[in-house]
Amino acid sequence: MAQDLSREAPSESLLTEAEIAVHWKEEEYFLPPPSFVGQANLIDPSINERFDLDHFPECFREYADLLLWDEYWHTTLDTSSAPFYKWFVGGKLNVSKNCIDRHLPLQRNKAAIIFQGEPDDEPPVSITYQELWVRVNEFAALLREFCGLKAGDRVTIHLPMTPELPITMLACARLGVVHSVVFGGFSGEAAGRRAADSGSRILITMDGYWRNGKVADHKANLEAAVEAARSEGQTIDKVLVWRRYRERSLTSTPMVEGRDFLVDELLKRFVGARVEPVSMPAEAPLFLMYTSGTTGKPKGCQHSTGGYLAYVTGTAKLIQDIHPADVYWCLADIGWITGHSYIVYGPLALGATSVIYEGVPTFPDPGRPWRIAERLGVNIFHTSPTAIRQLRKLGPDEPKKYHYHFKHMTTVGEPIEPEAWRWYYHSVGKGEAVIVDTWWQTETGGFLCSTKPALDRMKPGSAGPGVPGVHPVILDENGVELPAGSQKAGNICIRNPWPGFMQTIWGDPDRMVRQYFQKYNKDPKSKDWRDWPYFAGDGALLATDGYFRILGRIDDVINVAGHRLGTKEIESACLTVPEIAEAAVVPVSDEVKGRVPEVYVALKPGVRLSPKEVQQKVIHAIESTIGKIARPSAVHVVPDMPKTRSGKIMRRVLAGISNRMDTGDITTLANPDIVEQIRKEVQGEGPVVKRKGPDDIHRFGQSE
Ligand code: WTA
Repeated sequence: MAQDLSREAPSESLLTEAEIAVHWKEEEYFLPPPSFVGQANLIDPSINERFDLDHFPECFREYADLLLWDEYWHTTLDTSSAPFYKWFVGGKLNVSKNCIDRHLPLQRNKAAIIFQGEPDDEPPVSITYQELWVRVNEFAALLREFCGLKAGDRVTIHLPMTPELPITMLACARLGVVHSVVFGGFSGEAAGRRAADSGSRILITMDGYWRNGKVADHKANLEAAVEAARSEGQTIDKVLVWRRYRERSLTSTPMVEGRDFLVDELLKRFVGARVEPVSMPAEAPLFLMYTSGTTGKPKGCQHSTGGYLAYVTGTAKLIQDIHPADVYWCLADIGWITGHSYIVYGPLALGATSVIYEGVPTFPDPGRPWRIAERLGVNIFHTSPTAIRQLRKLGPDEPKKYHYHFKHMTTVGEPIEPEAWRWYYHSVGKGEAVIVDTWWQTETGGFLCSTKPALDRMKPGSAGPGVPGVHPVILDENGVELPAGSQKAGNICIRNPWPGFMQTIWGDPDRMVRQYFQKYNKDPKSKDWRDWPYFAGDGALLATDGYFRILGRIDDVINVAGHRLGTKEIESACLTVPEIAEAAVVPVSDEVKGRVPEVYVALKPGVRLSPKEVQQKVIHAIESTIGKIARPSAVHVVPDMPKTRSGKIMRRVLAGISNRMDTGDITTLANPDIVEQIRKEVQGEGPVVKRKGPDDIHRFGQSE
């Protein structure tokens, strides 16, 4: 048993992050259970030395050696165009061969994927490595022959959580085709804009899927996607439509003759087809993943073939302790980076069984995840603080009703409150499982900070030290390092490159330099990686034990239930409503989702709409341009925005009002009186509350 110095307080209500930030104290450590340590992949403490900066970059050979190379590389790291690094230069490999073919001799009939549909009475479906190989080959043949796709072409994939999604990704990888998966919950328009940015002429979608007990007509998004792509100059020639069930259709939208094709119909032509995996240079792009940043337009992070696969395989093995015999379940969506790296590529490269669940974790009841875990024999579990908070709120005692045993659990995506961590540890993990709190980003490909599960103590709420070969540092605004234990928050940066880091922003390399490196780079011509610390965009603290505690974004990104949304993106969606003159979006802390967006709008003069009509229009605009995940918790119609004398909207003041926090100094505003007026409108007539709130909300909009 782990040494548990903490006391559970089940009757205590869930602390909000706001309160945590105020009451934060050093937490007690938990030790990994001996039963875990005894079987762990990483038990040799010399890893710290093997991966220290003196052994950089050659240390990462250890990860690359986990892969099957067609040709070995000659240069581990080429920094000649820093910060655009090249890893394992000269090497050649194929990702689908690494994730499928090479496992066939030993475990042809082992489940690669187990799919659990959302309907509770739908039995799980196992896809063996052999079966995955067959399906990926046939679909790859279809992509090549029917769509004319070849290495380097881009394809946009807008699919829900079904096995067809990894099959499609792996078929692209087999051909060297670059996939760009757009989260299934994003709107058609969002998918279409991303398809245009990547230059995809093929779009892959599905008829429908189950979500919260209802069928979602997914194909209904398609016309908006094709139209959005067209309006940005990109024609979608062909749309491939997978069907959730062969025997019935889950969509009521018609097929467009000559453009839309049912995959199951087409596949009849490719039965038995085999496609030789295309040997790709390590440096060839494997996929694009769009993410929100500080400007309105999402950016396509381009990830490589060799470096990326080596990195996710190495970290899945060492940090998640995945062995081929494990049944691993990550509840994230494959449409996000977590799903790419740690549902599909990492686990399959290690020959494990990866579980894919279609629906929401609390459907039809909050015991569902534990029922699935019991039935499938899941022993490694991976989810987000939002899901943990929600499952704890709705079913705190559910886990003990089910006979599953986890050896390892991951949390990812947001800072986790120590209270929620302890419930995860005691109730979900039954005190038997080690926990890793992994901090990383779409840009980084794989984990950056985490404890090493058998070697490091766990500390609730802290991600831990850098993972092997990743050397984080906290810098202040002037680039001065904040030492461990300084109690001061600063910008977390990574001193060195690592193989999982993205290669560039698709079509906009300058933006990569601007956004992530410009702040701390002193010599733009330097070819030395030491001159290019990676600026991650998160605030963090470093404790004396070397553990990093992540505080959250320092830019205009809101982390809603672990999903990154750009405030600027939501604001531009609001401005598509013709009656709206100005819009400002602020983060509000939420007990379950961490943060949710709240919208303030000012109308054009002379507009006559009721607040309710405005709200409906705004919500509709946001849902159709981005998707339901960006739906604001409130839309406030205000007579004017608080502004500086130079006319900038003071979002920080609005965030203060929405979070019932101190609004800070408002005396320098051009219109200070408006603040009290808005406050009364939002908070009611009560007394002014001057609470200190979460750090990220405090800092929000400070750059304005
Ligand atoms: C946040 C998700 C605290 C952080 C993998 C980061 C976290 C953003 C953690 C990236 C964690 C991720 N603790 N915060 N363990 N993991 N974050 O690109 O703000 O969707 O910058 O990648 O999520 O979100 P993204």
